[in-house]
Amino acid sequence: MNVRDSEHMIAELNSKEPYELTKKLDDADLIIINTCSVREKPVSKLFSEIGVFKKHKKESAKIGVTGCTASHLGKDIIKRAPSVDFVLGARNISKITQVIEQKHAVEIDIDNDDSTYDFSEYRTNTFKSMVNISIGCDKSCTFCIVPATRGDEVSIPSDLIVREITKAVNTGAKEVMLLGQNVNNYGKYFKAEDEQCNFTELLQKISKIDGLERIRFTSPHPLHMGDKFLEEFASNPKICKQIHVPLQSGSTSLLKSMRRGYTKEWFINRCEKIRTLCPEATISTDIIVGFPGETEEDFADTMDVLEKVRFEQLFSFKYSPRPHTAAQNFENQIPNEIAGARLTKLQARHTEILDEVMDAQMDKEHMVYFDELKADGKVSGRSDDGKLFYVQGSEELLGKILNVKVTKVSRGALNGTVSE
Ligand code: 5AD
Ligand code: SF4
Repeated sequence: MNVRDSEHMIAELNSKEPYELTKKLDDADLIIINTCSVREKPVSKLFSEIGVFKKHKKESAKIGVTGCTASHLGKDIIKRAPSVDFVLGARNISKITQVIEQKHAVEIDIDNDDSTYDFSEYRTNTFKSMVNISIGCDKSCTFCIVPATRGDEVSIPSDLIVREITKAVNTGAKEVMLLGQNVNNYGKYFKAEDEQCNFTELLQKISKIDGLERIRFTSPHPLHMGDKFLEEFASNPKICKQIHVPLQSGSTSLLKSMRRGYTKEWFINRCEKIRTLCPEATISTDIIVGFPGETEEDFADTMDVLEKVRFEQLFSFKYSPRPHTAAQNFENQIPNEIAGARLTKLQARHTEILDEVMDAQMDKEHMVYFDELKADGKVSGRSDDGKLFYVQGSEELLGKILNVKVTKVSRGALNGTVSE
C-alpha cells in the first residue's frame, strides 16, 4: 500500500515539474519519508532517520513525513523535529503538490475523499502495475491502528479501476496487483449510488482487459471468503494462484477479543476449500503472537492451524500495543520474553515446513513472468503461485512469461532454466 502511495506522490510531483529519484542523500532537493505505524518500531526509527537526513542533506532540501505515522502524530512530528517541512497523512497524498509549497503544512484529515481522484501515472516497475481498488478499512480489529490512520472504507468505482489498468497494460504491464485493506469487501461503500459491483464481479470485469495476463490482489479478509469468491479465484485463469489469508491467531477466543469475526474452524474450512478447489495455490498468512490474554492453549491453537494449513509463506509479529486501538488497554498484556519465545517457536516450525515445500519444487516447471534485471547476468521473476525465480539471462527475457524448470532450491527463491 505504501509503495503504491509513494508512486502516486512521485507521479503527482512529476506532473508539476520533472523530478528524478536519487540514491544520494546530498543530491536530493526533496526528501519524503513515507511511514508505516502498524507496529511501534518503525515509528521510533522515524525520528532517528529525520536526524540523519537533517545532518547530511543539502541546506535547501525539504523534508516531508507522509503515511500512517503522519496521520496519527500530525503536528507533533514538527514539534519534535522542527526540521520537518510538511506532514501529509496516508489519506491525503493527493495533496502532495500543495504541501511542498507551504512551510509546516499539516494535512491529515482521514475523511478526505481521495477515492475518485485520478492520479497521474508512475510505475516503479514497467512490467507490473499496482492499482488501489479501495481505501481505508471498515473493520475494528482491536490491535490495529489502520482504521484510525487511513479512515473509513471507500471503494473506487470499477470503471476507474478498469481505465487505470488498461492504461498500464498499454504501457507495458501484463500484471496488476489490486490493493486494498480488505479487497474482498470491495463494493460495500461506493460514494455514487449507481456503482454496484462486488469483488468477484470486479475480478471478472478486469480479466476481460485485453493484454492483461495476470491478476494478483492483497489483502483479502478470511471473513469475506465466500464460496463464490473462492470459485472465481480457482477457475479464472488470469488470477494468480497465490492467496493471502491473514490468520492473526488460531484461537477462537483470542480471535473474538481481536474482533476478527471468524473462528478457528471457519479459517481452516476456508483454507481447505482453497486447497480442494485449487491444489496448486499457495497460501500466505499473518500471525500475531503475544496478543493480550494469549494463554499457552491459545498459542497451541495457532501452532495447530500452522500444522493443518502448512502456509507457504508466513509473516509473523510480536504484538505491539498501538495508540487509537482497544487492545492497548486490555488487561493481561503478555511479557516480552514469553511473546519472543512463542515467535521463535512459530518461526522455527514454519521454517521446517518451508524447507519441505521448497525441496519438493526440484525439477518442477512453472510459468515465470520476468520483470527485473539482476547482477551477474541474472533475471528474476515470479511464478503464477508467487515463487521468486532467478535464471541466467539478459534483458531479452524482461516482460516475457516463460516456462522454467527448477534446477536449484533454497528457502527464499528458486533457480531454474528456461525451456522453450
Ligand atoms: N502488533 C503486531 N502486529 C500487528 N499487525 C497489525 N497490527 C499489529 C500490532 N498492533 C500485523 C497484522 C496485520 C499485519 C499487516 O500487521 O498481522 O495483518
Ligand atoms: Fe487492520 Fe483489521 Fe482493517 Fe486489517 S481488517 S486493516 S487488521 S482493522
